[in-house]
Amino acid sequence: MRNLLGLEEISAEEIRRLLLSATGFKEILSRPVRKAPTLRGRSMVTLFYEASTRTRTSFEMAAKILSAEAINVAVAQSSVTKGESLQDTVRTLQALQMDCLVIRHQYSGAAEYAAKKLDVPVINAGDGRHEHPTQGLLDLISVCEHFGRVQSMDLSGLTIAIVGDISHSRVARSDAWGFSRLGAQVRFAGPKTLMPSNCRSLPVTVCSDLKAGLEGADVINVLRLQTERQEKGLLPSLREYSRQWGISARSMQWAKPGALVMHPGPMNRGVEISADVADGCHSIIFDQVTNGVAVRMAVLYQLMGVERE
Ligand code: CP
Repeated sequence: MRNLLGLEEISAEEIRRLLLSATGFKEILSRPVRKAPTLRGRSMVTLFYEASTRTRTSFEMAAKILSAEAINVAVAQSSVTKGESLQDTVRTLQALQMDCLVIRHQYSGAAEYAAKKLDVPVINAGDGRHEHPTQGLLDLISVCEHFGRVQSMDLSGLTIAIVGDISHSRVARSDAWGFSRLGAQVRFAGPKTLMPSNCRSLPVTVCSDLKAGLEGADVINVLRLQTERQEKGLLPSLREYSRQWGISARSMQWAKPGALVMHPGPMNRGVEISADVADGCHSIIFDQVTNGVAVRMAVLYQLMGVERE
């Protein structure tokens, strides 16, 4: 692995290797002093053209725990606002001797474009509707942990229902590739207006009815309604969307008893998920966030540590 641009392009074996590495790094997170010298002298730059709380902060924490320098480019205060192109921006950061670029961008393919222009590793932290591979990895490890599959990293026999605004979601695509590579059955469930036209090219089955989508599911991954990416007219109203597609105690009855509830965050409570489900005993939403740090430590180590050594 030279870059991490998407889970579509990496094998089950590579995914398992990253997840096993993440479980090792997770042990460091429980130590009183959370520090390892693993990436001392290396520098990671985060360049986010879109807002983020979880991803950017956890990359920064992961780098710092591994003793790397973590430099954040605040795009709104950068020369991007003077019209500097993506190519010139990333080449400038390379000329400043960064060792790894973590990029989030509104355009699908932006991370791959940056990788083609650079000699240093690039990590896709979310590109348009395409992929969000580290979110996919942290979702995988969270499910492996909760079903006792950490040793095998094999999710055969499990059904994962990914529910909601599929067409605007990069998490849906990364999860579809990741969960299916580890042997799970993946379902997309959402309104037809929020379902991508290219579902046939993905390893999923599609349900346009919430009950059918949830029936027998072991895991429900609820997606945020991405109103910032949507064109108008896709939904009658938020209230009707919530009534028909929102995950609540009522709709949870259609899934397997005890089904896990996930959400990549940020949540629109009361829209795609009710507060009682988000905070309920089957929710692992905040465990996902914690696992994000360990996964990003593993990815940084893989791309900045192993390769260099
Ligand atoms: N899940 C996720 O990508 O969250 P942020 O937008 O807060 O990084």
